[in-house]
Amino acid sequence: MSPQADEQGPRVVIAQTDIVFACRPGQPILDAAHEQGVALPYACRRGICGLCAADLVAGEVMPVDAGPMTNAQCRAGQVLLCRCAPASGTITLRPASWERRDPPRRLPPL
Ligand code: FES
Repeated sequence: MSPQADEQGPRVVIAQTDIVFACRPGQPILDAAHEQGVALPYACRRGICGLCAADLVAGEVMPVDAGPMTNAQCRAGQVLLCRCAPASGTITLRPASWERRDPPRRLPPL
């Protein structure tokens, strides 16, 4: 299965792959990825562990709430995918790892 982006709403591209998925406005990128069959690393989903850090290759992101989009585990140019949503039409990310998952799995509520 190749996750495809909806024609509407922001799109997220995983760099150097054919993976593209849609993100609802304000939806954390991590949640959107898992909903559409792209498993990305995570643990806390609260901006603490740093496992979801990814390089922001192109585009802009915005915070999903008042919390920060980075933490001490982030290198320069990285953002936490549990803490940000796309702010531009298409963004390109390079996560630490990714895996296609079929069927997709929605992350449990926090
Ligand atoms: S999942 Fe822990 S910081 Fe994002």
